Amino acid sequence: MRMNVLLVVAALLANATPAYQQSGPRVIEVTAERFTFSPSEITVRTGEEVEFRVRSEDTAHGFRIAGTAVNGVVPKRGKGVLTVATTFDRPGRYTIECTRMCGAGHDFMRGIVVVRDATERGR
Ligand code: CUA
Repeated sequence: MRMNVLLVVAALLANATPAYQQSGPRVIEVTAERFTFSPSEITVRTGEEVEFRVRSEDTAHGFRIAGTAVNGVVPKRGKGVLTVATTFDRPGRYTIECTRMCGAGHDFMRGIVVVRDATERGR
């Protein structure tokens, strides 16, 4: 019985990273937990298609990237994953903000997306 469970887990893990994903968006897994996003700093390149998959470890949170159309709700733990795709056209620093009241540290629940110019090298 234990062996069967392990096989199922292995199959799920294999499905999580199919080979064809290499030609699709870059998937970035993010965890939201009072009162941080992990990773708290995410670096991408201009023109890169990215897909954020945001999961909560506790209550519901918001996931908004200032200056972009990204603005969603991260369901509370065990209730699903917020999946949102975007592409950054301009380099810069974009603040990730929690937009749902989640407790005393809500106003400070922030992260950052650092967008680098894809044409620059060695940075
Ligand atoms: Cu997390 Cu507000």
